[in-house]
Amino acid sequence: MKVFALLLLLPAVALAEPEVDATTGLVKAPGWLQVRAHCGGCHSHALLTQQRADRDTWLEMIRWMQATQNLWQFTPEVETEILDYLSANYAPRRGLRRAPIPEALMPASN
Ligand code: HEC
Repeated sequence: MKVFALLLLLPAVALAEPEVDATTGLVKAPGWLQVRAHCGGCHSHALLTQQRADRDTWLEMIRWMQATQNLWQFTPEVETEILDYLSANYAPRRGLRRAPIPEALMPASN
């Protein structure tokens, strides 16, 4: 009976949405405080929470901001923490719950 009760709980655990910080919109996972501190000074954190990329692409974006947008250098430790966080929590989406809305059905943007 105990095992059965546990099985009933599993889907709830698996579907639990990650906790999101109300101010920044960042997923509260290891490393999020570094990202809050370093990635919200020039633009909204929303610029990154709406982005999905693999680790290499996140690194490219950081290098691009460092080369052209005055983003400061990080220590290797901080950079690793930031990249771990971004690639774990803002990875390319697989298994979308629904297909993306086709371009033709989207409202016109002007
Ligand atoms: C020193 C200022 C500065 C900081 C700090 C900064 N960025 Fe940026 N970032 C920019 C600028 C400027 C842009 C271009 C904004 C635009 O196009 O409107 C940008 C754009 C972006 C974009 C959009 C890129 C695209 O291709 O559309 C993402 C994602 C991003 N930043 C993520 C981050 C992350 C992650 C951090 C922390 C590691 C960070 N930013 C910290 C200046 C900064």
